[in-house]
Amino acid sequence: MIHIHRADNYETMSRKAADLIFAQILLKPDCVLGLATGSSPVGIYRELVKDYAAGRIDFTNVTSVNLDEYRGLSGDHPQSYRYFMNEHLFDHVNIDKARTFVPDGLSENPDRSCADYDALIDTLGGIDLQLLGIGHNGHIGFNEPGDFFAKGTHCVTLSERTIEANKRFFASAADVPKQAFSMGIQNIMQVRKIVLVASGADKAEALHAALYGEITPRVPASILQLHPEVHVFVDEAAISC
Ligand code: GLP
Repeated sequence: MIHIHRADNYETMSRKAADLIFAQILLKPDCVLGLATGSSPVGIYRELVKDYAAGRIDFTNVTSVNLDEYRGLSGDHPQSYRYFMNEHLFDHVNIDKARTFVPDGLSENPDRSCADYDALIDTLGGIDLQLLGIGHNGHIGFNEPGDFFAKGTHCVTLSERTIEANKRFFASAADVPKQAFSMGIQNIMQVRKIVLVASGADKAEALHAALYGEITPRVPASILQLHPEVHVFVDEAAISC
């Protein structure tokens, strides 16, 4: 079941989505949050940091698991997703960093560490709320369009389109890692509640295909149509088609 929450602009969209995460933490203070990177959720993190600074929200008992990480980047590399999470959220709230999990970009045994990441999610009792952005090709996490829906955490070879879209964070396209570790579609489908954020006209086509198109691994986000509780937060531009 997909619920669409419209907002006039990115700021309002971010606040509305932050309210849902805020509500999740009130509902279950020891919840497991699945977190995402990219520019789409930055506004949400900004709002949550404000809520924390104002004494409205407490992350003491929250655990987080991130969707993905670039292969080959250490957590102190400024473009790594671990670094991103520290910079945008973890360093500014009272979450216990030992309870924040991001796939290990430097793993020397990828099969093992991917299986361990799946086992970790199981041990935590599953994910209560998963935050997602969407790529221009309909990817979620780093699950790229393909012939089948990937199940668990796995190593992905990034598409040219994704490298192109993400090069803005690096000195050049050549510096963007070619692979990443990502939760799989099954990990994402098994969460209790999904919050997807999309902003800007450049996301409109991918979002439309995901929400209303055929359910196909060619548009990985389309599988969300089968999930029992998906909240899609959009600004007007993102639903302009
Ligand atoms: C990356 C991330 C995704 C994210 C996507 C869109 O590929 N792995 O999790 O959703 O980019 O990013 P943005 O929000 O910057 O458009």
